[in-house]
Amino acid sequence: MTQNKKPNIKVLYDEQTLATEVERLAKEVTAKLPENVLVISILKGSFIFAADLLRAIHRAGGTPDVEFITLSSYGDRQTSSGKVQIMRDITNEVKGREILLVDDILESGRTMAFAKDLMYARGAKTVRTCVLLDKPHNRVVDITPDHKAFDCDDLFVIGYGMDMAHGYRQLPFIGVVVDDDEDDG
Ligand code: IMP
Ligand code: MG
Repeated sequence: MTQNKKPNIKVLYDEQTLATEVERLAKEVTAKLPENVLVISILKGSFIFAADLLRAIHRAGGTPDVEFITLSSYGDRQTSSGKVQIMRDITNEVKGREILLVDDILESGRTMAFAKDLMYARGAKTVRTCVLLDKPHNRVVDITPDHKAFDCDDLFVIGYGMDMAHGYRQLPFIGVVVDDDEDDG
């Protein structure tokens, strides 16, 4: 899949819809968070969501610390294999901290459950979770997000940080690739 082919992309959540919902979510999250919360953005997929959410948390009066962890679940292109690995770790101590984990999508739940267990194993006091999209159809771990922006159907989405074969993360909206013969439908 290259980006040169100009595939048809159907917009699911446009920029304005995302901005409005992220603002609402930030107010909800900020009302629940302690002052010294440590927000941990799970990379790569959450980088745009986390950047927008953090600025909205600031507007809502929050004063978070921010960290990043890169997690990867190996497998074929569009499904996770089940084995989560730390590709790049955070650099701060989490012992005794109140944590908010931020990810783009909660699908099988393995990535978020892994991150949550990791933070508790390192001595975090509390760990809350916040996701942009909740895709519950392929859930294999019993986990529900504490905060979420949207419920999403069982579709493979791209944009706003989320990739298909490393492409499309830069799109300012969230969409799905539509086959030519499915277009106009
Ligand atoms: P899971 O909850 O461990 O299955 O994995 C969630 C991760 O899989 C997300 O953080 C994304 O990186 C990736 N993912 C799941 N669904 C999609 C999708 O529709 N588009 C792009 N990435 C996805
Ligand atoms: Mg991800």
